[in-house]
Amino acid sequence: MKKFSLTICAVLFASGPLLAQKIDVKKAFKQADEQTLVMLKEVEKVKAGKGKTDLATPRTIEDGALKLVGSKDWTSGFFPGELWFLYEYTGKKVWMEQARAYTSLIEQEQFNGKTHDMGFKVYCSVGTGYRITKDRHYADVIIQSAKTLATRFNPKTGVILSWDHSRDKWVNPVIIDNMMNLELLFEATTLTGDSSFYKIAVSHANVTMKNHFRPDYSSYHVIDYDPNTGAVLKKQTHQGYSHESAWSRGQAWALYGYTMCYRFTKDPAYLKQAENIAGFILNHKNMPEDLVPYWDYDAPNIPNEPRDASAAAVIASGLYELSGYSKSKTSYLQKADKMLNSLSTKYVSPVGKNKGFILLQSTGSKPSNSEVDVPLSYADYYYLEALLRYKGLKDKS
Ligand code: GLY
Repeated sequence: MKKFSLTICAVLFASGPLLAQKIDVKKAFKQADEQTLVMLKEVEKVKAGKGKTDLATPRTIEDGALKLVGSKDWTSGFFPGELWFLYEYTGKKVWMEQARAYTSLIEQEQFNGKTHDMGFKVYCSVGTGYRITKDRHYADVIIQSAKTLATRFNPKTGVILSWDHSRDKWVNPVIIDNMMNLELLFEATTLTGDSSFYKIAVSHANVTMKNHFRPDYSSYHVIDYDPNTGAVLKKQTHQGYSHESAWSRGQAWALYGYTMCYRFTKDPAYLKQAENIAGFILNHKNMPEDLVPYWDYDAPNIPNEPRDASAAAVIASGLYELSGYSKSKTSYLQKADKMLNSLSTKYVSPVGKNKGFILLQSTGSKPSNSEVDVPLSYADYYYLEALLRYKGLKDKS
C-alpha cells in the first residue's frame, strides 16, 4: 500500500502542473539583483548629470541612454515596486532602504487627479510596500490616492475617465489599461470600510465588460463615451495595429484586471471573463511557440514583428493568480510556466548590460514608433511579480 502511494505521488509530482516547466527562480533573482545594482548606479549618474531634477525613476533606454521619468509619468511606480520585490525575495536590508527611498519619490501622486494612472503609479510602489511592511503611512497614501482617483468617476458613464489628453480624437476616452487601477480602489475599501471605492471599481469593471470586448473576448483599446448619456461613441485603438486588432498588452491588462476583480468580489462573472480572455490569448493562431506575444496579435508582418515581453510578463503573472480560482488550473499553470521559462532564459539581459534593466524585447507603442523592442520598467516589474507568484505556488505544493 505504501509502495503504491509512493508510486502515485511520484507520478503526480513528476507530471504535476508546477513541474511542467521548472523555473530557476534563484538564478532569475540573482540576475535581477545584479542588474538592479547596475541600474541604481546608472540612475545616479543620470541624476547627477542633471543637477536639481524632478526625474524619479527609470522607464526605458532611448537612443542608447537611460530614460528617467518624473513621478507623474504612468510608469513611475514600477521601479520602486521592483525594489520591494527584491526585498521580499532576498530579505536584504539594502533593498528595503532603496525601496523606501524610491517609493517616497512617488507619494506626491496621491494628489494628482489629472490621470487615471494612479494604480500603476501608487499601487505598484506604495501598495506593494504596504503589502510587505503594513506601514500605516503607506495605507494613508493608498486611501488618499483612491479619493483622488474617485474624482475621475462619472456616474453617467459608470466608468473612470482615463485621459485628459487627445480631446481632438475622443470626448471621454476609457482604455482597457484602466482595469489595473481598480486594485487600488478595492484595497482602499478594505483599509477604510468605505464601500464607495468598491462600488466605483465594480461599476467600472461591469461597464468595461459590456463595452470593451468583442464576441471572441479580445478587447478594444479605447472606448469613447458620451459623458452626459454614457452612450458609446467610438471603439478604437491608440497603441494597437488597428481599431479592430488585438493589441497584446491590452489583452494582458484585461486578463490581469478581471482576475484581480474576482479576487476582491468573488463575482463569477469576472472569473468567467478572465477565463474567456485567457482562452483568446492562449489559443490565438499568432501566439508564438515560446508564448511571448508579438506586440499585436494582428500585426501585419508576423512572424517579422517585434515581441512584447511586457505583455508576456503581465499575462504570466495574471495566469498564476487565475490558476488559483479556475477549474482550468493545470492548463493555466503550464502556460504560465512556459511563458516565464521563456522570459527567464531567452529574454533576460546579460548582467552589466542594458543600463541594468532585467528583460529585453518589449514594445511600448509601435504605431508611434516609440519604445520598440526595448527594455521597459513594467516588463521587469510584472516579471518579478510572476516569479514570486510561481515561487509561492511551488512552496505550497
Ligand atoms: N498604460 C499604457 C501602456 O500599457 O502602454
